[in-house]
Amino acid sequence: MQPLIAGNWKMNGLTAQLDCIETIAAAVRTAPPAAEVLLCLPATLISRGVRAAAGQFRIGGQNCASEVSGPFTGDISAQMLRDAGATAVIVGHSERRQLYDETDVMVAAKAEAAWQAGLVTIICVGETSEQRLEGQTLAVCAAQIDGSVPTGMAASANVVAYEPRWAIGTGRIPTLQEIAQVHAHIRLCLIARLGPAGKTVPILYGGSVTAADAHKILAVPEVGGALVGGASLNAAEFETIFRAAPAST
Ligand code: PGA
Repeated sequence: MQPLIAGNWKMNGLTAQLDCIETIAAAVRTAPPAAEVLLCLPATLISRGVRAAAGQFRIGGQNCASEVSGPFTGDISAQMLRDAGATAVIVGHSERRQLYDETDVMVAAKAEAAWQAGLVTIICVGETSEQRLEGQTLAVCAAQIDGSVPTGMAASANVVAYEPRWAIGTGRIPTLQEIAQVHAHIRLCLIARLGPAGKTVPILYGGSVTAADAHKILAVPEVGGALVGGASLNAAEFETIFRAAPAST
């Protein structure tokens, strides 16, 4: 499978940062990377981001509503993201689960809406540091997969990101053995949930991925790519990361 390197700009990015997207597009045009590149932008930048990317890589959103339209002031539907030019969306990011109390049920509804709108859906799972210390990592990820991944979802529309919460934005990452163990477990959970289709769902690792360690993480079995936060805000660092991905996983 072609690895996927997805950037997540979170609540960062103004008009002035569009040149970062143009820089990434120029790098991809000059030397196409082995990995597929995606940048998940704030909604306000999506349509301009699509223009700046100039067809060289894909643009996604970071969250969507579970409803298609209606009286939900401030919300943005999956269809609207699609209409703006996004081809993918992150759902259930741990910041949404933690800061906005998003439950597995809500994440599953958003994933379903995104899928119906024709977006590739990146569903995030991952344990807190307390859960890790209590030895709950595999059980937490399994429960989040069961609760957040809609059963009818086609593998082609579905990506899972393992993002230990304690690794996000902290500079701390699990050992490569730990990443391998959790990814292998998530693979089994996906097969149990989706049947044979679960074999082909890419499983990204996310949490403090940097240019310095990306190649080691991307070489771990069952790591199908990366979800990159802070390091995706810097075009050169993001380029080093997407060039670190092997031709196939
Ligand atoms: P980070 O964020 O790379 O800055 O740790 C990853 C994420 O939250 O998706």
